[in-house]
Amino acid sequence: MSDFSNGTLQFNQATRQSLAFSNEAMKEVKELLSHYPSDKSKSALIPILHIAQSEFDGWLSPEAMDYVASLLNISSIEVFEVASFYTMFNLKPVGNCLLEVCQTSSCWLKGSDNALKYLEQKLGIKPGETTADGFFTLKTVECLGSCGTAPMMQCGAAFHENLNEDKLDEIIETYQAKGKRTFYTDLQAKHTK
Ligand code: FES
Repeated sequence: MSDFSNGTLQFNQATRQSLAFSNEAMKEVKELLSHYPSDKSKSALIPILHIAQSEFDGWLSPEAMDYVASLLNISSIEVFEVASFYTMFNLKPVGNCLLEVCQTSSCWLKGSDNALKYLEQKLGIKPGETTADGFFTLKTVECLGSCGTAPMMQCGAAFHENLNEDKLDEIIETYQAKGKRTFYTDLQAKHTK
């Protein structure tokens, strides 16, 4: 496993080889890489990290970042630098359903604080935490570009808009009833239909 914590990068070939994209994901990766010259494959890093997050349980472990680095022929620390910069990448495990509640101006003005408080009470967790059964993780995020339907939150590839307590009850119950992981990206949704 790579260790980013002490400034050195230790590499374990066996660990790197233990992860692999599905055939469908690999097809997407190759398609993405075809848009760039072979010495500029790093340009495809962000969409490939989305695929990796989708493929590997909704978060980017050091092993997953090693794997992406090996595909792009770049160093693991370059992958980590990007993955740790953007909040849409999770660097620690998340629950089956990652609820990302927008907290930016439009959503805030329309009551996102109340929506968040309601979710905290209903699920018994604070932002950054996961329910004991590992099903829901709560997270606050900045504007998701759906300001006209504020307040809103994202779960995987789905936007839930014009939130109120009744709607939140319905959303939580629907996810619980499905009893399985929701899609982290449209790519995963497409592959799983
Ligand atoms: Fe919430 Fe833009 S402010 S989506």
